[in-house]
Amino acid sequence: MTSERVIRNLALIGFMGAGKSSAGRVAADILRFTFLDTDRVIQARAGTTISDIFARQGEPAFRDWERRIVEELTRRSKTVIATGGGLPVAQDNLASLKGHALVVCLWASPDTIFERVHHHDHRPLLNQPEPLEKIRALLAVREPFYRQADVLINTEQRSVKEVAAQIVHQFHLAQAAHS
Ligand code: S3P
Repeated sequence: MTSERVIRNLALIGFMGAGKSSAGRVAADILRFTFLDTDRVIQARAGTTISDIFARQGEPAFRDWERRIVEELTRRSKTVIATGGGLPVAQDNLASLKGHALVVCLWASPDTIFERVHHHDHRPLLNQPEPLEKIRALLAVREPFYRQADVLINTEQRSVKEVAAQIVHQFHLAQAAHS
């Protein structure tokens, strides 16, 4: 990281089920930051669910929403941002987040992700007969993007509180390095 880097926010990236929203909320409480979840913002703006956007308008329309929200995030400060799992796969989105936030990736193995998400049905990309295979395939494509985060935190065998504490610790380190 260069000394010109501005770090006003904290952005969490990573695969579905990595714990971005749950750990992000706790981290925001500790830091006394606002918590924002890009999926929730999109749902509120669109007036419908993510599944409905995928079903009616298709994935490209959802990715357009994500791009628009990422653009708006550049104006925020003191915010913990939990991003949708596919958002950093657009290189521009990742670059934009790095312009104002410390980007932290939460990591988990495909098996752990499967365990965490298989009883949920609100993720259209995993609503299919072989979700574990889909997780493996998507993760393979996305890993190079996730690895561009400033910090990678393994969430395996860690509670939400422990992950949140790690996130906050990394944020303090980054701020100290840039003050
Ligand atoms: C997606 C992840 C979801 C949501 C959408 C697409 C993805 O968010 O944005 O279903 O492409 O990985 P979470 O990572 O919060 O589940």
